[in-house]
Amino acid sequence: MSVRRAPPAERVRDRLRRVAGDGPAAAMPRGYQRLGRVLLLRLPPALLRYGPTIAEAWTAELGVEAVLAHDGPIAGELRRPQARLLAGTSTETEVVEHGSRWRLDAARLMFAAGNRTERLRFARLVRPGERVADLFAGIGYFTVPAARACPHARFVAVEKNPVAFEYLQQNLALNGIAGRVLAVPGDNREVALEPGGFDRVLLGYLPSALPWVPRAVELLARRGGTVHVHLVADAKRARLSAVDAVREALVRAGAVPRGPLTAREVKPYGPGRAHVVVDAPVDRA
Ligand SMILES: C[S@@+](CC[C@H](N)C(=O)[O-])C[C@H]1O[C@@H](n2cnc3c(N)ncnc32)[C@H](O)[C@@H]1O
Repeated sequence: MSVRRAPPAERVRDRLRRVAGDGPAAAMPRGYQRLGRVLLLRLPPALLRYGPTIAEAWTAELGVEAVLAHDGPIAGELRRPQARLLAGTSTETEVVEHGSRWRLDAARLMFAAGNRTERLRFARLVRPGERVADLFAGIGYFTVPAARACPHARFVAVEKNPVAFEYLQQNLALNGIAGRVLAVPGDNREVALEPGGFDRVLLGYLPSALPWVPRAVELLARRGGTVHVHLVADAKRARLSAVDAVREALVRAGAVPRGPLTAREVKPYGPGRAHVVVDAPVDRA
């Protein structure tokens, strides 16, 4: 007779119950994010004093080598995580998804698991011969899968955070695409990019990439192209309101949408909010 083994979160809860009692065990969240050898937890403040016990339990259950607890939301212009180390020493790790590989320091850089489907979808949109600009490249979240999927496209990936830029360069080499992706350090509003030099511009920035729509339009080829705009919207009418906002920003920037814009919900984004991406094929006025 086979005996069902309890899921890892339940086993961690049992360990915590033995050490700290029923109250703390009941407060232990089930959710966790595993990034390779590093585990990220969202612990309620009341559980932080049991951090070492909890981290030790997770390490034993999942075989991870470092455990981080979120200390606050993803913060600031550069979207840095706030995390405290509960166990382990190095927080450097490698994430593998559909054959793409990303190295990162999980204590200093984010990796949004909920963007998985969007990373794959974007990669499938890129056509041979296209010139693609990823203006918020990070460690290559979108550029790596897209450049792997489309060997006959060329990419420019701009990143302002020097820590993320260092990993971006590593990840291009790791995935064998360094020859087709030009990594540009700096602020995407200031770095020299060829105006009219791109067929597709990705604006993967939250909570809203709308302020960058004029920059994207300026970079699009004279015959037009496609802009992908990420933003957070009210969940109830997320796609509708995102489409309206993007259309307005495009028209103000001198672009003419080629027919109706399409939007898709990428993931929930806090209570009553959704992360949405709008695909906008446009002509330049
Ligand atoms: C973390 S990624 C966003 C990934 C994903 N779209 C998400 O939020 O779930 C955003 C990246 O844009 C970079 N960034 C922010 N402002 C920038 C700017 N003005 N120019 C270039 N890079 C910028 C940040 O450093 C960060 O690495």
